[in-house]
Amino acid sequence: MKIEFIEKRLKDIEADIELIVVAKKDFEHRFTKEYKDILEEAGFSGGQDELCLLAESKKLFVGSDSLRAKDIRPAIATALRSLIGKKYKSVKMASYLSHDKCTATLRAQAEAILLGTYKFEKYKSEKSDDFEAIYISSEEYGAKKVNIDAAKRAISKGLEVASAVNLARDIVNTPPDDFYPKIMAKVAKDIAKNEGLEVRILKEEDIKKEKMNALLAVAKASSHSPRVIHLSYKPKNPKSVVSLVGKGLTYDSGGLSLKPSDFMVTMKLDKSGATAVLAILQAVSRLKLPIEIHGFIGAVENMIGGNAYKPDDVLTAKNGKTIEVRNTDAEGRLVLADMLCYAQQEVKANYIIDMATLTGACVVGLGQYTTGVMGNNQKVVDKMLYAANVASGELAAHLPFNRHLKKTLKSSIADICNISNTRYGGAVTAGLFLEEFIEEENKQKWLHLDIAGPAFVEHAWGENPQGASGAGVRAVTRFIEKLSTSEGEHY
Ligand code: BES
Ligand code: ZN
Ligand code: ZN
Repeated sequence: MKIEFIEKRLKDIEADIELIVVAKKDFEHRFTKEYKDILEEAGFSGGQDELCLLAESKKLFVGSDSLRAKDIRPAIATALRSLIGKKYKSVKMASYLSHDKCTATLRAQAEAILLGTYKFEKYKSEKSDDFEAIYISSEEYGAKKVNIDAAKRAISKGLEVASAVNLARDIVNTPPDDFYPKIMAKVAKDIAKNEGLEVRILKEEDIKKEKMNALLAVAKASSHSPRVIHLSYKPKNPKSVVSLVGKGLTYDSGGLSLKPSDFMVTMKLDKSGATAVLAILQAVSRLKLPIEIHGFIGAVENMIGGNAYKPDDVLTAKNGKTIEVRNTDAEGRLVLADMLCYAQQEVKANYIIDMATLTGACVVGLGQYTTGVMGNNQKVVDKMLYAANVASGELAAHLPFNRHLKKTLKSSIADICNISNTRYGGAVTAGLFLEEFIEEENKQKWLHLDIAGPAFVEHAWGENPQGASGAGVRAVTRFIEKLSTSEGEHY
């Protein structure tokens, strides 16, 4: 599919259909006015993401609450998604600028095109046709002047980030029998080769040497041996160093604390944190950001069997802390405990961000659209919330730690227990468990993102089709982009 920014008026661009965003029910707009009556007759009221296809006029209208990126992005994505499998092979649309000189909306348009036209048909015998071309005209919706160079830069950034999101979607959607730890390592090697990154893969023997016994316990009953992956992007004179740590459970059956059947379906999603880390590395290196990024991935499968790790086991993590296992389904935090220790041993970073589909409790607390952000430094938390909610179009909310919940992780026989003794606040207690594995000097530099809610989409919403969403890729890439522009602000 070709995506092109064209310096021509809309009417001079040949396409099967024109997409028109109706901002704030703006029926009096020059693009919409002529169709006002028919749109109203069709019952179109211009609400966010509401669609009206006028086949005869070859126009598709979509409502948007405003001209800002956060509204335009889902509107355009929803409109394009509605055309998948239809006869329209080429689409044209105007440029949208929320205000003069600000190309954020154009970047969002580009993102929306790739995110909205995404489909996962690898396992379908019959595939739907692809779009041939999607054109953005330099003619602006409100007749504002578009700076051509700035527009092209914004669009190319949007396309780079969205293709990283789609890479993450492809990986997460792939079934567990075709995507296990060894494959995760292979994909990491491929990305490293294509993008010129450094990569190091630890196999079981190497992982043993690193004393990552918590991670190894989770992996024990699987026929697929685990992998620890370290990918790094090292630009010259970096302004900051960021370590990303991803939960890569290529399947989570729950282990001996087996999940009920209904809850097990979709657990291929449990590699979403790790996958986001891979995708972010691709995006950051393609955007050539002046930030050194290290991606650490624990790729493991949580299964059952005669040699499975058990509730009642006591594990010794890489940093020597002992963990009483009371539930083998709280496996992500065991893998991350060792991965966080490993990441801190290998790299002295200015920020450490872990990403994981860690708890069902986070989905209960925030809903399925929102990432839970946890950490000890409010300024760093706020940076992430801004990057997600304002800049990237993802949704995120802060979940605060407190000393009372911390106490609920106490164990009578080991240093800490892998589950809390209360059924409340499960997302926060999981975050507090991870904090035990963050060294004192790094406590303020660390963020934990629980993406269990948005990682996998039951019913399409906004720019996300059913299935894997690529949650976290846009938000964290934006966080890193912001570090490149704010001079020397470390915590
Ligand atoms: N991978 C799951 C969390 C999850 C649940 C992700 C639903 C996405 C959707 C995680 O490993 C898990 O099973 N967590 C348990 C923790 C509990 C045993 C303390 C949970 O959330 O139930
Ligand atoms: Zn689990
Ligand atoms: Zn899990």
